[in-house]
Amino acid sequence: MSNLQNKRVLLGITGGIAAYKSADLVRRLKDQGADVRVVMTSGAQSFVTPLTFQAVSGNRVHTDLLNPNAEAGMGHIELARWTDVVLIAPASANFIARLSHGMADDLLTAICLATVAPLAIAPAMNQQMWQASATKENCQKLAERDVLQFGPGSGEQACGDIGLGRMLEPLEIVESLSGVFQTRELQGLKVLITAGPTREAMDPVRYITNHSSGKMGYAVAQAAVEAGAEVTLVSGPVAIQAPSGVTKLDIVSAKDLSDVVMQEVETHDIFISAAAVADYYCPAIADQKIKKSGDEMTLILKKTQDVLADVAALTKPPFTVGFAAETEKLAEHAKVKLKRKSLNMIAANRVDDPELGFHSDDNALHVFWQGGEQELSRNSKQKLASELITLVAHRYKLKIDNNNE
Ligand code: PMT
Repeated sequence: MSNLQNKRVLLGITGGIAAYKSADLVRRLKDQGADVRVVMTSGAQSFVTPLTFQAVSGNRVHTDLLNPNAEAGMGHIELARWTDVVLIAPASANFIARLSHGMADDLLTAICLATVAPLAIAPAMNQQMWQASATKENCQKLAERDVLQFGPGSGEQACGDIGLGRMLEPLEIVESLSGVFQTRELQGLKVLITAGPTREAMDPVRYITNHSSGKMGYAVAQAAVEAGAEVTLVSGPVAIQAPSGVTKLDIVSAKDLSDVVMQEVETHDIFISAAAVADYYCPAIADQKIKKSGDEMTLILKKTQDVLADVAALTKPPFTVGFAAETEKLAEHAKVKLKRKSLNMIAANRVDDPELGFHSDDNALHVFWQGGEQELSRNSKQKLASELITLVAHRYKLKIDNNNE
């Protein structure tokens, strides 16, 4: 099964006996690494309590459209922006009807109207209600609006009837949902990605490093896997889990990173350098712990190999994408790096704002290539990584098409 790691899932629960299965669904989604927020309609609360879902999701459950306690009194907009996907399971006949008519008279329908995230429903109802032409027309209308439909399944129903209308089992829903994030943009391609910091040793107990958490590079690796690529992730020391499906190679210093990348790169089609690589290292690492002596200390540092520039300078370079971490003159500095290092693309980000860049869950990117640029506005690192991969895939294909002409 492909993973939903770090995906933000808004689970809508509507009124139906299958609502009890949604508690297990939350658990299964969380097993896949998803962050789950639950929204319940009033009908759903007649079958199961919000407390159950608060306990299994680990998050407050949302029930009211007009809730003065929600941020800025706009809970539905906040949630609509937050989520990567809206999944409604179970989706009752009544909810499907309200959704198909564009109603916004409760929190869940309002979120569905306010979001740009993909919408998926897992219908659950009596088999006769499922066969009713009104329900069929409503589902047809939703399909025309690209609302995905998972199930229903067939079998014995809570009311004693037998037929189509059962909600799919939680694991089947999770499997279908992970498919939402799969694209074929990089199908058949091999992508080499670097992430995280490097550590440059001074002596056996000290090193020079930076604030990189690896989150941006790992998100890019996950987006590349979702795009169908075979991904090798070269990672500095970080505290986060690698996306499933990648081959991870651990490094510590800039020299290690250079050795591994130069060894691997020839077999890859695309190279994306998101690691925060040290620009200088200590050429003479002390054998023993350096003892405290005078008031001042001088450390001799030497320039590291610029791995990104080395890759771009190969006789047959892959499609090469750099990052630029800047505290000022973002566009100006990024464009200089793009040209000086002969890159195909560079993604520039600010690292002087505590809410963006290093360590944060969000970022904002300004991407440049020769003769073009695109701003990817503030978003979660996962969403930005997907947008970046779409852009990389597009420009890679243009390059290949031009080379073949
Ligand atoms: O890991 P996070 O906490 O999520 O933070 C993400 C990030 C801010 C680290 C990431 O988005 C980012 O900007 N990575 C690049 C950091 C960096 O080293 O930028 P730079 O402008 O100093 O270097 C430019 C490019 O050259 C980068 O692609 C870098 O990987 C590469 N480089 C730099 C030095 C060197 N010796 N070799 C290199 O390959």
